[in-house]
Amino acid sequence: MRDTNEDWEKLAQDNAYWAVLTEDEFKSKKLTKKHKDTFFATGRADIANLTALIKGLIPDFSTPKESVIDFGCGVGRLLIPLAEQAESAIGIDISETMRSITLKNVASHGLNNVRCVESPEILVKEGVKADWLNSYIVLQHIEPRRGYFIINDLLQCVKSGGVASLHVPLFKTANRTEYYNDRVMYFRNDYYKNETVFIDRDNYGHPDIQMYDYDANTVLALFHKNQMTKVHLIHDRSTTGIHAYYFIAQRD
Ligand SMILES: C[S@@+](CC[C@H](N)C(=O)[O-])C[C@H]1O[C@@H](n2cnc3c(N)ncnc32)[C@H](O)[C@@H]1O
Repeated sequence: MRDTNEDWEKLAQDNAYWAVLTEDEFKSKKLTKKHKDTFFATGRADIANLTALIKGLIPDFSTPKESVIDFGCGVGRLLIPLAEQAESAIGIDISETMRSITLKNVASHGLNNVRCVESPEILVKEGVKADWLNSYIVLQHIEPRRGYFIINDLLQCVKSGGVASLHVPLFKTANRTEYYNDRVMYFRNDYYKNETVFIDRDNYGHPDIQMYDYDANTVLALFHKNQMTKVHLIHDRSTTGIHAYYFIAQRD
């Protein structure tokens, strides 16, 4: 199995903001204030849209929350707006550099209610139970055989009545080939081994960001195992040809 942990630490050290959102405008090693503001505005908009979506699906979902968890928090793009509407927030990220950038960004946003950990396993051992567990554009980079265990750990951290919103890639289509043209080294979409390798041809002589697809049955079984039987599946509306769905559910 590929060591994607190592990939993410390297990506974070090289260009953390671009690794989170691979748009050219975020590619500079030292982002200007204007670019950082634009970057964090995307997170604020994403959380506002997601909050509205969940409220439409689960009538008793309301904010602010006591506790939130953001899995794969990166530099805090979503964790910060989540923390702004919670008493306490936990960011999980495998990359130490990402975690340290997040904590700096948290402080510069005037927040002191956030901590970061390396893995959901730590929270399971601590017995953490949160009101809202979120993850966006993270599981897609984790090999599913490992990702299923992570999903199980994460769902254990949702308290009774709490909500999970997990963004899970399920399949790909080649309807936007121009999007892939200059990035994709190879593209596979078969049932057992789904993998795309993105490369930033200017800066990497080797594959950098892995893209995987999950099996929806297995993900649903994990939700069921964790007392989440009413699961809403919502396409993320991306037109890139990468088809990911939000799995949104409330724990019994
Ligand atoms: C594309 S970024 C998304 C960041 C954030 N969710 C956002 O939307 O701004 C993916 C993040 O997931 C983290 N990540 C990758 N594999 C991980 C793992 N196994 N466990 C925890 N975090 C992981 C990476 O370090 C990176 O910060």
